[in-house]
Amino acid sequence: MSDLRTVTVPLGDRSYDVLVGAGAVEHLPSLLPATARRVAVITQAGIPLGGAEALTALDLGGRVITRIEIGDGEVAKSLTTIEHVTRAFAGAGITRNDVVVGIGGGMVTDVAGFAAAVWHRGVPVVHVSTTLLGMVDAAIGGKTGVNLPEGKNLVGAFWQPAGVICDLDALDTLPARERRSGDGEMAKYHFLVGEDLAALPLVDRIARCVRIKADVVASDEREGGRRALLNYGHTLAHALEIATGHNLTHGESVGVGLIFAARLAERLGRIDAARVDEHVAVVGDLYGLPTEPPAGLDPAALLELMGRDKKALDGLTFVLDGPSGVEVVAGVDPSAVLDTLHRYGAQP
Ligand code: GLY
Repeated sequence: MSDLRTVTVPLGDRSYDVLVGAGAVEHLPSLLPATARRVAVITQAGIPLGGAEALTALDLGGRVITRIEIGDGEVAKSLTTIEHVTRAFAGAGITRNDVVVGIGGGMVTDVAGFAAAVWHRGVPVVHVSTTLLGMVDAAIGGKTGVNLPEGKNLVGAFWQPAGVICDLDALDTLPARERRSGDGEMAKYHFLVGEDLAALPLVDRIARCVRIKADVVASDEREGGRRALLNYGHTLAHALEIATGHNLTHGESVGVGLIFAARLAERLGRIDAARVDEHVAVVGDLYGLPTEPPAGLDPAALLELMGRDKKALDGLTFVLDGPSGVEVVAGVDPSAVLDTLHRYGAQP
């Protein structure tokens, strides 16, 4: 275990540490509440750190471990899974003194966090994030929840973890598609603070992204305003994910969405062409993500999907770069959006 970085999410008496580094999972015991006699581990098949052997190898101070496996993909991010998990808690005798540990990507930590939030009206949860997307986004900040047939993440709770582990060893076996999902989020952070993160080694870049997210969450835990900045690039990204039937990864969609947001900001006179070029360089050159929408998408259909984005506060709301940095801008003229989509390459 080398080069551990510790980032604190400052939330008063609910503050917690995020440990970032190769082999960081060895530090899991230090994040578990001293009262916990039982540990309910929620994970999925094929996650190396969540396998039965890996759990046996962890020294959790003699605590009894119950491993609960859940299914894969958005379809398993459901209330049925929450019933399965919480009934397993009942079988294992998990009490409020005990602890839930989610080991996996964002889907696992969202489910583990929500199950912990509702079990006995709230038990501590620790996340061990095994994907880049989870490390820089999903595992941090306490958003938990599951889907309904009517929409994603409609049932959930804010439930901050007691600690988070980002073990970089898990990235060695991460499929390329999932890695790209995290790359899009990392590209986003370059613009939120106006810093060039490119020169940082991966461990420091992840820790820096965690720090940026931690500060935003600390200033607006329940997304009354500033936390919406974390959705930079996501308005078009969500529309693209739906319009392409998820053929584009989340990260690829965010990459395209970031450049679209920059072009829209330029169209609205908020930034100049050089700043748009910076977006293209970070998204395309640094992270190797697509910089243009796939061919054959109808701009009018994309506009309608963007209007439906659940984060739209009042008409068309975008997170846009500008002279004072990235901010939430309401009341954006739909014709400017449509015009930018046309000029950006989306063609019916
Ligand atoms: N993923 C955005 C947020 O945590 O607010």
